[in-house]
Amino acid sequence: MRVAVFASGNGSNFEAIAKSDELRNLGLEIELLVCDQPQAHVLKRAEKYHIPVFVNRLADYPDRNAYEQAIVDKLKPLKIEYVLLAGYMKVVTKTLLGAYPNRIINIHPSLLPKFSGLEAIERAFAAGDEVTGVTIHYIDEGVDTGPVIKQCKVVRLRNDTEASLEARIHQTEHQMYRQVILDLLNKNNEVAK
Ligand code: GAR
Repeated sequence: MRVAVFASGNGSNFEAIAKSDELRNLGLEIELLVCDQPQAHVLKRAEKYHIPVFVNRLADYPDRNAYEQAIVDKLKPLKIEYVLLAGYMKVVTKTLLGAYPNRIINIHPSLLPKFSGLEAIERAFAAGDEVTGVTIHYIDEGVDTGPVIKQCKVVRLRNDTEASLEARIHQTEHQMYRQVILDLLNKNNEVAK
């Protein structure tokens, strides 16, 4: 199964996917990392795993449509089947959505629809919620909306700081994303039989 991963920053989710032998052995092929931030740490991680990167800045295009069309043009010859958003901090619009209908998956660090948008962990912590979590979902044209694939709760412990809560949320994310991709691979391999 040929995928492209999109990321904007640190890239811990990208690395959790890229380093998994289990996923690779079941047929996951990360053909490309698409990154909109030339200084992002995720680019170093891609180098470590010898994964090609496409650094693409919105500022270099007249509008968002042209920006996304450049991505589509890059993905098409690679025969990408799924796009995995892993900390990609741009809203995806119809140019990309139209090219990959029901094939773009996003991970978000909250129990959506709560705390959609930026700084979800910070806002859940500030709100004092005893339970927060992670959502993986297919995207639509909204911000962090679309059909949910999997949701997991993360409980806030009594002594949690924002940093310790965040660390557990990231751990949960890494496990969940691997599991969702595993399910997708198994489904794809089943169909191919
Ligand atoms: C993750 O927590 C991911 O859920 C979040 O960005 C972080 C990226 O971390 N995504 C969103 O908030 C999307 N709205 P990472 O770069 O270490 O994978």
